[in-house]
This record gives sequence, structure tokens and C-alpha cells, in this order.
Amino acid sequence: MKKEREVLLEADHLWKSYGKGAAKVDALADVSLKIYNGELLTILGSSGSGKSTLLNSLGGMDKPDKGMICCGGVDLCQMNDRALTSYRKKNIGFVFQSFNLIAELTAKENVALTADTSGDPGIVEKVFDMVGLTEKMKNYPSQLSGGQQQRISIARALAKNPALLLCDEPTGALDYETGKQILVELEKLVRTHGKTVVIVTHTQEIGKMSDRVIKMRNGKITEVVENDDPVPAESVEW
Ligand SMILES: Nc1ncnc2c1ncn2[C@@H]1O[C@H](COP(=O)(O)OP(=O)(O)OP(=O)(O)O)[C@@H](O)[C@H]1O
Ligand SMILES: [Mg+2]
Repeated sequence: MKKEREVLLEADHLWKSYGKGAAKVDALADVSLKIYNGELLTILGSSGSGKSTLLNSLGGMDKPDKGMICCGGVDLCQMNDRALTSYRKKNIGFVFQSFNLIAELTAKENVALTADTSGDPGIVEKVFDMVGLTEKMKNYPSQLSGGQQQRISIARALAKNPALLLCDEPTGALDYETGKQILVELEKLVRTHGKTVVIVTHTQEIGKMSDRVIKMRNGKITEVVENDDPVPAESVEW
């Protein structure tokens, strides 16, 4: 029998549109979903289907026009910008396709930037250890490979000990093998460290390593697939 799952975040009837009249696009058209504690969730869909809009809404980076996003007893959609920024800082880790590290800072300084909210003085060392890059702490981003930069950006996201890690095309800028290493890293965060991770991707095969797959098209969720037997990231091929 399936274990009772604890809901970490619940989105209810989200709507978001861009443009007006004939040019109006519904990026989110009545989207509802739950994210469970400790799961690895993949959001799949073709370009323009609304994946990033959804992810950014769940992380408080974007505000839907209508709907509710409940997390820890609060509704993100009702928060003002200041409250939302503070919520995001404390609770959400973001990983982007394009690493977004600050070129003038070392890897360690980049990670330390987000560490102030965690309340753990050893957190920077801990997250470097988690992504296996302790020996690169003093390097600048330009002295690191793409895969290493992405691991640093994962470490940066983890340094605030977020409830939820949201990854938008985390392998998009990487070659096949390096992309796979990042997936193995993300999988380890869920399976070994009990984190909750959401991965947005175009790549259908990546869904096989996750506990659930949510498929999107034209701003709508078209399918939710439960994966009782996720494949190890190492053996996912695309
Ligand atoms: N700031 C914006 N202004 C106008 N339209 C936007 C804006 N952001 C998104 N859209 C539109 O909303 C729809 C959903 O976009 P979104 O970026 O969420 O798609 P996506 O699934 O992440 O696509 P991709 O895989 O290419 O990243 C698209 O039609 C897009 O053109
Ligand atoms: Mg996108």
C-alpha cells in the first residue's frame, strides 16, 4: 500500500495570461496540483506550454492572475511583493538552465550569498560536500566547467536549506553526460537527503527517474502519471 503523503504545497485553479485581445495567451489556464514532501516531480511539456510560468508561480517569482498557492498555511497569491520576496528567500531554491552565478565572486562566495537565512554556520561547507565540489570552493565561475557551475548553482540553492528546490531545464545548457551527472545529483538530494525537487524539462525520458510526472499543454495539465518504480537517474537515456 502506498504511504500517506504529506502535502508541501498546493496550487488551486491558477490562471495567468499575457497580452490582450487576439494576442492574449493563457500561460496558465486553470492549473491545480499538489507537491508532496520528499518527492521528485517532473513537469513535462513542449516549448510555450507554461512550465516556467507554473514553476515561477510556485516559487513566488511570478504572480498568477487568479488562484491560490498554499504552502505552510499561507497563500502566496495574497502576499505583497515584500512578503513574497521574504518567503522566497527562506523557502525556495531555484536552479536555472543558465547557472546565473556571479562572475566576480568565487564559488564559495556565490554560495555564501544565500546562506544567511539557514541558521547553520557550517551550511556552506555542507552543501559543497553534498554536490562533491569542496575542492573548487576558491575557483571563480570562469574556472569551472558548465557541469561544475551547475553543481555550484545547486549548492547555492541548497544553502538556504529550502523546503522546495525548483529546477527549470537544469540540464538544458549541458552536454549529455554532464546533464546526466546533474540528474544523478538531483536524485541524490531526494533519495538521500530527503529534499523535495521539481524538474521542468522538454525531455520525456527524464520523467522516468521521478516519482510523478505532470504533463502540460497550452497552459493546462493534461496528465499526471504516478511512477511506482522510478528508474535510477544513472540508467535514464535520452
Ligand atoms: N513575460 C511574458 N510576456 C508575454 N508572454 C509571455 C511571457 N512569459 C511567458 N509568456 C507566454 O506564455 C506562454 C507560456 O510560457 P512559458 O515560458 O511558461 O513556457 P515554457 O513551457 O516554459 O516554454 P519553454 O520550454 O520554451 O521554456 C508562452 O506562450 C509564452 O510566450
Ligand atoms: Mg520555460
